[in-house]
Order: sequence, then structure tokens, then C-alpha cells
Amino acid sequence: MTSALATAPPKQRASIPTPLAHLPVLERETVAALAPQPDGRFLDGTFGGGGHTLALLAASAPSGQVVALDVDPAALPRAASLAADPLVGDRITFIHGNFGDLADLRQRYQWPAFDGILFDLGLSSFQLDDPARGFAFRFEGPLDMRFNSDAGVSAAELVRDLDEASLADVIRRFGEDHRAQAIARAIVRERARSPITTTTRLAEIVSGAVGGRRGAAIHPATRTFQALRIEVNRELDVLERGVVAAIHALAPGGRLVTIAFHSLEDRLVKRVIERASASCVCPPELPICICATRPLLRRIGKPIRPDRAEQAANPRARSAIMRVAERTDVPVGDGVSLP
Ligand SMILES: C[S@@+](CC[C@H](N)C(=O)[O-])C[C@H]1O[C@@H](n2cnc3c(N)ncnc32)[C@H](O)[C@@H]1O
Repeated sequence: MTSALATAPPKQRASIPTPLAHLPVLERETVAALAPQPDGRFLDGTFGGGGHTLALLAASAPSGQVVALDVDPAALPRAASLAADPLVGDRITFIHGNFGDLADLRQRYQWPAFDGILFDLGLSSFQLDDPARGFAFRFEGPLDMRFNSDAGVSAAELVRDLDEASLADVIRRFGEDHRAQAIARAIVRERARSPITTTTRLAEIVSGAVGGRRGAAIHPATRTFQALRIEVNRELDVLERGVVAAIHALAPGGRLVTIAFHSLEDRLVKRVIERASASCVCPPELPICICATRPLLRRIGKPIRPDRAEQAANPRARSAIMRVAERTDVPVGDGVSLP
């Protein structure tokens, strides 16, 4: 394996999880959509536990290549252990980086165009199940939520520093929670008593503000946690940049696969793919098309969801929604312009 670690090596953890403790979602469907060939070059923009990377390497043996990105430096030891398998070896290149920076990374490493690019969004089980990462309120942990715990602003800092209106705005926009104002007010009141630094304290404050669970399908703090995580990691901005850069980075006929886990992510991906697939961007009031737009993408099939068997075997797959699109042969400069 070749690797590039842009920051200091990850802090040593008590035990390094085995590479496949995270069950890859829609693995079979991803491999079918990317249809790896033995000489194919793929980008896994969200390496995580390496499940999809491994599936792509297996399907593209003996010489297919995967560039694997993850913003979390804790993924590096998992990539290294995958590379120790003689069937993988130097067919994987791990880069510690953010797919939002894909355009710059492409330039820096001079990557040729890819035959397939995957973004399996959100969190891995390694992150969700580690109390020290602060993503889950089912156990006590520091209120962190950074994908890269070596950089950026934690959720505890946001909860400490944002004024009430900004907190409410984040919870409303990224948690789509209509009780955002009441939650923000409770956070501001409680932080004046003592700093909010743990997952469980924040969850209690949110529950106290909007009432307990009382038969609701999800815990009352779920949306607030989603909102803070999206804000901490700037997930939607990063996703938009990443998907646009991915479209530009695909070879003609190359495929883009995205797996989203909530509607904000999925709507954003859908919008960018629709725009890139457009053959007319004229204002609707014009009677005829005068734009001669040339699409960069062609949508492939309908969105795909995990079947019942996968949902039963892996409850975390339940909300997954996969989209597939194929790069046309229109050069980037001649095609529809993307944001
Ligand atoms: C759902 S997991 C991927 C699981 C992986 N497909 C597997 O089979 O093991 C998402 C991973 O993407 C990483 N990630 C999230 N946002 C990222 C970004 N903007 N750039 C790079 N990696 C990101 C997370 O750190 C996490 O490890």
C-alpha cells in the first residue's frame, strides 16, 4: 500500500478494529453498478472499514486499483491491514483526506480519470460505536462528532459558542426539527448553569425541552445530533464540492455511486446529478431550447434501497438510498456547468 497522511498519525487506540466490523451497505449493488474490470481504477471516497474497497479489489483482480480516501485518520491502520493481504498489496492507495478537496487532491497526486467513484456517506460503525468520538447519545462520551478528531471545531464548542438564533437555525436546517427554537433556548439556559460537554447531558437537555420519547419513532435528540454533526463536519458543503469534483474526475463511461443516509444528503446528490444530466437549462418560459447544453452524466436506473434481508441483517442500512450515474463522453469544458 502507498499512503499519504496529511496530519500526525492517529492516537493509538486500545485495539484496532478488524477491517470488516462495519458491514458495507448495498455492497452487491455497488459492485454491480461499478462493474469493475481487471484493469479498472476506482476511487472509494469514504474508505471507513474498507468493505466496499475490498469488494472492488476482489471484483477487479488481479490488477484493478483503488484509491481510498477517508477524512478520519483512524481509518489508516484498517487500510494498512487490508494492504497486508497479498491479494491486495499495492493495489490500494490510502489517502488521509476529505472528498470535498477531491479537485485539489487530483491535481496534487496527478490521478488519471477514474472508472468508478463511490461515496458511502455518513459514519462508520467504528465511529458510531466508539463513545470517545461523541456521535451517539446511547452512551456517555465527550461531545465531539468530528470525523477528523485532530482538526476543526467540536460539537461541544458549537454548543458553547453559537448564540440562540444560530443554534436554532442549525437544528432547524440540518435536523429538520420544528422544535428547534425550544431546543436552542434550553441549550442556552443550561450552558449558563454549567458547560455542556457530554453526549448524554445534551440528549437530556433536548428531551427535557421537547418532552420525552412517548411512543415517538425516534429519540427526541436524534435530529439535534444529526444537525450538529452536519454542521461540525460541514457535510453538505463538502458533499456538493465532492460530487461535482467526482463528475469531473470520471472517465467517459465511468460510474458514480452515492449511498446517502438521510434526505438532506440524498436531495443534494439528486439535485447535482439532475443538473449534470440536463440537456436543456433554458428558463421554462422559453418556447424552444436555445442553450444547446450537453450533459456530463446519464442517470442509471432508479434509486436503490436495501432489500428486506439486508435491512434485517444490518439495521443501519435501513435508511440507505443509492444513486448511480454514468459519465458521458462530453468534455468537462463543453458540458453543462455545475455549481
Ligand atoms: C459509512 S462509512 C464508509 C464505510 C465503508 N464504505 C465500508 O464499507 O467500510 C463513511 C466513512 O466516510 C468517512 N467520511 C465522511 N465524510 C468524509 C469526507 N468528506 N471525506 C472523506 N471521508 C469522509 C467517514 O470518516 C467514514 O469513515
